[in-house]
Amino acid sequence: MKTRITELLGIEYPIIQGGMAWVAEHNLAAAVSNAGGLGLIAAASAPPEVVREEIRKTKELTDKPFGVNVMLLNPNAEEVAHIVVEEGVKVVTTGAGNPGKFMELWKENGVKVIPVVASVAMAKMMQRGGADAVVAEGMESGGHIGSATTMTLVPQIVDAVSIPVIAAGGIADGRGFAAATMLGAEGVQMGTAFVVAKESIVHENYKQRIIKAKDIDSEITGMSTGHPIRVIRNKMTKEYQRKEKEGASFEELELLTLGSLRKAVMDGDVVNGSVMAGQIAGMIKEEQTTKEIIENVMKQAKELLNR
Ligand SMILES: Cc1cc2nc3c(=O)[nH]c(=O)nc-3n(C[C@H](O)[C@H](O)[C@H](O)COP(=O)(O)O)c2cc1C
Repeated sequence: MKTRITELLGIEYPIIQGGMAWVAEHNLAAAVSNAGGLGLIAAASAPPEVVREEIRKTKELTDKPFGVNVMLLNPNAEEVAHIVVEEGVKVVTTGAGNPGKFMELWKENGVKVIPVVASVAMAKMMQRGGADAVVAEGMESGGHIGSATTMTLVPQIVDAVSIPVIAAGGIADGRGFAAATMLGAEGVQMGTAFVVAKESIVHENYKQRIIKAKDIDSEITGMSTGHPIRVIRNKMTKEYQRKEKEGASFEELELLTLGSLRKAVMDGDVVNGSVMAGQIAGMIKEEQTTKEIIENVMKQAKELLNR
């Protein structure tokens, strides 16, 4: 399937693996790229030299294109922006802010820039700033979220910009891919589906929590602090919401979630940790290789789109 996204990124299938803090490291990124999609390394708040190491390890595992997700509000963003260029990475996705400050550096060095946005206004601003495409991310997504749903956001952004749009949030099979295509997207970004991939290094407890999740097991923490994050419900979210109702301070709430994603991903503490995952977790029922995930999505999507 050829779209402006496959052309822009030089990949076989218009499927991007979301940059996911603690989850999106070299094994997963390389596996997705080798399977024909675009793998991403999440810089998140990792020390810049760790990001450089991750890039080098990815290069050892694949000769296909891959990218780095830069969270612009993190103190490491500036250094990571330069490391990306030094290491010859050709694609960057950005979150949490405006990549304007790094645009010239990246563009001069042939880096394709794809900001993740949750509103039409942001999408337009990114296009004006020289972005090559945008990821329109609906609030069904795992992790940090905006307020519009994928179904409503994608067509509005498609209408508002001329650069290609990648849909994210709630997509994990060919039906989701086909629906996103119908809304005008030229590619999809999937996060939760790849968390449970065989090549994903997340703790088995985390994968099993997603596999066992029901449709209504999704919760949002941080609504009152202005930093909403979608996770799967557990003891931590119950405690969080209780404290939120009691009017706990920002600091007190932060304390509850501090380091909590690492706790869940690395230690497998899915009771007190933050099990970030999207609403589509309820549909994911087994661990598959990245190749199986991507090929199944494409096969089902092609059948539906050819009807
Ligand atoms: C565990 C987890 C961590 C995430 N961390 C980040 C991140 O560091 N940067 C980012 O831009 N998006 C992050 N996301 C969002 C994903 O990149 C992706 O856009 C989202 O998961 C897509 O929605 P889906 O989960 O419904 O597939 C994260 C998502 C999850 C599930």
